[in-house]
Formats: sequence, structure tokens, C-alpha cells
Amino acid sequence: MTQSLVNLLPSFMPDRSAATPIFEQICAAFRSRIRSGALAEGARLPATRALAQDLGVARATVVTAYEQLVAEGYLAVRQGSGYVVCAMGEVELPAQASTAPTPEPMERPVLLLEAGQPDMRLFPHRAWGKCVARLCRTRPQDLLTGCGRLGHPELRQAIAAHVRDWRGIEARPEQVLVTSGATEALDICLHALAAPGSTVGVEDPGYPLIRLFAERQGRQIRDLLLDPQGAEVPRLDEATSTVVLTPSHQFPLGGAMSAGRRQAFVQWAAQRQGWIIEDDYDSEFRYAGRPIPALASVDAQGRTVYIGSFSKIFSNSLRMGYVVAPEPLVEALRRAMQIRGARASAMPQAALAEFMLRGEFYRHLRRVRRLYAERHRLLIERLRDRFGHLGQVTDHQAGMQVVLHLPPHLKDSQVAQAARHAGVGAEALSDYCQSQSTTGKAYNGLVLGACLNDLDEQLEAMARLATVISSTE
Ligand SMILES: Cc1ncc(COP(=O)(O)O)c(C=O)c1O
Repeated sequence: MTQSLVNLLPSFMPDRSAATPIFEQICAAFRSRIRSGALAEGARLPATRALAQDLGVARATVVTAYEQLVAEGYLAVRQGSGYVVCAMGEVELPAQASTAPTPEPMERPVLLLEAGQPDMRLFPHRAWGKCVARLCRTRPQDLLTGCGRLGHPELRQAIAAHVRDWRGIEARPEQVLVTSGATEALDICLHALAAPGSTVGVEDPGYPLIRLFAERQGRQIRDLLLDPQGAEVPRLDEATSTVVLTPSHQFPLGGAMSAGRRQAFVQWAAQRQGWIIEDDYDSEFRYAGRPIPALASVDAQGRTVYIGSFSKIFSNSLRMGYVVAPEPLVEALRRAMQIRGARASAMPQAALAEFMLRGEFYRHLRRVRRLYAERHRLLIERLRDRFGHLGQVTDHQAGMQVVLHLPPHLKDSQVAQAARHAGVGAEALSDYCQSQSTTGKAYNGLVLGACLNDLDEQLEAMARLATVISSTE
């Protein structure tokens, strides 16, 4: 073993009998050494080949681990130095001596563990403020004009780069349409792609607003039931011609659609001449392994329209999302935006573009991903510790919420209601389901937000939930 490994990871050896993949064991060892300060900012990591040799693992395993740590913001790649340790808490700039009042710290959320909510206390106020101030000084007209109906050209360019780097989608900025959130994007896509009276396939359980929009627009609904591979594929002889899917991270259950099922949907769309609307609302939050490529990136036939959102990764009050459409659909979507009166707020668009193009957005993203990964992991651990005897919690290592499945004698709607009274924002899983009464499949559980609260607040929520559950039993 090299001296470097002895110093860097004393007594670490991969455990081949453990369920955790070896690359993740390596990640965990480095994370804990970096967090404890044992590996200081700027420390150089051994070359991948040398570490792989010392640990007796494939070099690719070490490369995967290093790249994962880069994505999480623990490591950076420096030219000539290889992988080096990043500064922790790098986002907080030292306070400037100034007479400006210090902003009030944001209060803690009223409801704990509310599903799908980001922790807005982590919003990068200072970096965002600097960006807006710079724009106001240097090109104020950009905040007021220059933003066409489809979005600010620079933001469309930044989004095209983002989906290429993070989701593997090759698209020109002209294929990007900026909306006031994924919700508005879903409404527009349904309007443009599903003709009045046609049938839209929606996941069951799934995001209730999709069903609501489709029904309001006079479309029929076909429930797509879920199995371990993902949503069922409609038959070719069925009326269904458009489907809305959450393949990277099923909402609300959380799993990723299998590669085979993705391929089956792509084939279905090609043969049926149908459309897939891919709702990719929170896919940036994948905590282990490589990001799963978007379905749109593997659909060579161009029958998938991709929807993304800034609500989870940046700010849920900004109200900003986007559609990335195959070229031939852009005009139909533009018309749908016009008819539906859709338009994203113009003022923040240039600032968001600047924020992304300067890299601040990614610094923020790395930081929250790191924190959310920890919160997500611990919430699952704590739920299993306290409530494991009641029901199971699956760790999908992704997303912002987790589901605690409950036994039949604990009705999820009752527990969720009591939990809300006790200050825990649990949602009943059965509220997201349509056809469980007809299929006999019982979805009974609590949907809990993993990202909103810090670890102490999480503990408090656990205690409140335990009281609620024991009084409901
Ligand atoms: C599955 C799903 N799609 C879309 C959205 C909407 O996102 P936005 O806030 O960008 O409208 C959400 C929000 O929670 C969601 O859970």
C-alpha cells in the first residue's frame, strides 16, 4: 500500500460482502474524512490507478467514486494536480465590513418534513443579489425588455447547456421555451400535443395536477398503473396517444423507470405516432451513482418533450421552468403558450441566465445536493429505526421525498391529518392514487419531505410523528 493511502484513508478497505457498492464505500470514506477536516482544502488525492491498485478494485470504480465526489462538491479537478479537496462551506463569502443591515435569518418552516419543499434558508442571497445588482448597473434594459415570449435568449442558451451537461439532451437554445414553472409547462404541452377529446395516459399514483389539467382541457384519462419497472405502456390499439411520465424519479413513489421500460415507451411513441411528455421536476437530486439520462436523450425519433423546473433546485418562489422540445414542435408549443396566456416573469430571466453562466448556480446546486443527500440518507435511517416494525421505506438515493409505507390498520389519510395537526406536513400516499379501489392494490403510506429541515428539526419531526402514530394505532 502506498504511503498516500495510509494517510488519506487509514484502515479503509472495501467490504465486498456489503450491499453498498464499492464506489459508494469509497465515496463515504472520503466524505467523512473531508467533513471531519482530516482532509483539508487543497489536499491532492492519489491518482485513480494507484488507489485502485492499493484497494484491489477496478480503476473505473475509483473514477466513478471521484466523479461522484466532484458532482457533490467535495472534490474539484485541477489541471496538473488531478483531484483536490474543495473548501467546505465555500459558498458563504466572508461578511464585508459595511453599514448595510444584516438580513434577518429566515424562520424555520411552519410544517416539518413537508414533501417536495426545498429549504429556502439555503438560498444564495448574497451571490444572487450581486448578480442582480451587476445587471442593474451594467445593462438594466435587459431586466425590462429583450425577453421574447419564449424566454430571454441568454437564459434559453444557459438552459440548453444545462440539459446537455446534466441530462444528456442535445438541443439548440431555440428549442427551449421558458415557462412559469413545470406546472405551466405541463399545461402547455397537453394543450399542444393532445387533441381535444383524445386520451392522455397518466401515471397512477402520480402528480394530481396533470390529471386536473387534462380533464379541464377536455381530454380523456387513461391511468397507467405502476410495476417495479415503471408505468405500464399502453397497447398500440388503444386510444391513448400522449403519455405524461416521471421516468427519472417517479412521483410520488420515487423509483427510476427501468431501461427496458424506457425503450418500450420510445418504441410505443414511434409506432403509435404518439407523444411522451417527460416531467423531470427534480432529477438534479440524485445522490449516488451517475445521473440517469433523460428519456428525451435516448429518444432518437424526437417524440419526447422534456420539462424541467427551477422550483426544487433553486427557488420555489421564482416560478420558473422550461420545455425542451423537438424542433418541429416548437411552433405548436409557442401557439399553445399564446392561447393559454402562458408567460414567465421577464425580470428575473436575465439575472438567472447570468447566475448560471457565471457558475454560481452550480456552486449552489452542489452545496444543496450535498446537504440534501445527508438529510435524505438520515431521514431514511431514522424512519427505519423508529418505524421499521410498521412498514418499509425504500431508499432510491434520489429526490426530495421519501415514502413510509404503512400497514392496513393505520389509514394514511388519518395519520397524515393528525400529523399535520402536530406540525408535520405528511401527505397521504392514497391521495395520489386513482384506481387502487378497482385494482385492489393498496397504496397506504406517508409522503415526507427529506430536504426542508436540518437534522435537529428532522429529529423533532420524528418524535412528533411517533406520538401521532402511537395514538392512531
Ligand atoms: C411531479 C411534479 N411535476 C411538476 C411539479 C411542478 O413544479 P413547478 O413548481 O415548477 O411548477 C411538481 C411540484 O412539486 C411535481 O411534484
